[in-house]
Amino acid sequence: MDYTVMMPAAGSGTRMGAGHNKLFLELEGKSILAHTLAVFQQDPWCTGIILAVKETERATIETIIQQEQITKISALPEGGTERQHSVKACLKSHQSDGIVLVHDAARPFIKQDVIHELVISASRHGGAVAGVKAKDTMKYVNNGIIEETADRERLWVIQTPQAFRYEVLKDASQKAEQESFLGTDEAMLAEHAGYEVRIVESTYDNIKMTTPEDLAYGGYLLKKRLEETV
Ligand code: CTP
Ligand code: MG
Repeated sequence: MDYTVMMPAAGSGTRMGAGHNKLFLELEGKSILAHTLAVFQQDPWCTGIILAVKETERATIETIIQQEQITKISALPEGGTERQHSVKACLKSHQSDGIVLVHDAARPFIKQDVIHELVISASRHGGAVAGVKAKDTMKYVNNGIIEETADRERLWVIQTPQAFRYEVLKDASQKAEQESFLGTDEAMLAEHAGYEVRIVESTYDNIKMTTPEDLAYGGYLLKKRLEETV
């Protein structure tokens, strides 16, 4: 079952504090971006990769694509000031029915079986996102005082990939733009537009490389994964 993946890669990596885009930081000798691209290059269901990039980083990213022999790149649109704008730029350079995935370039540990479950669920239901059950007790707090304890059974931590039928994501994205609605993920846009979005249970190690502590854990995960595949 084919899909195209849209990958926002035009962030600044402020929380990582590296002074440049965190996607260029290396784990086991390769950039985070190279690791994430490799997952989709290796997945036979993936027929195209659209990467949103910063204009100033285009040449560096093109070099990575060449070095890593990533042959599935179908467009490299310029990203925007917010992640949602970068995804929008990807959508503009893709006009084709079928399933589209949005996946953070900063999540190199996504597993192929989860990707495939998402594609199947999105083609059946319209939209499906990766998530894991919340492990901790969660509370709503206002001015330092607990207001309420959330029902943990219903709480999920949401990740990417987020998979949609193309027309669902396009419509949700257009409605968000018309209404100046800014969401933190694509599911929010689809929910806002009235679509049903399903959850596919993912794994806790599908982390987004966000702060410096993630690098040590990411290095450990990668070593473990390389050992598993030999
Ligand atoms: N992203 C993007 N365009 C933006 C902001 C983010 O394409 N304007 C991408 C990032 O490159 C990353 C993904 O969206 O792959 C998830 O965003 P996040 O983890 O927040 O990365 P950054 O925005 O780079 O980091 P920070 O928020 O710490 O600055
Ligand atoms: Mg960000």
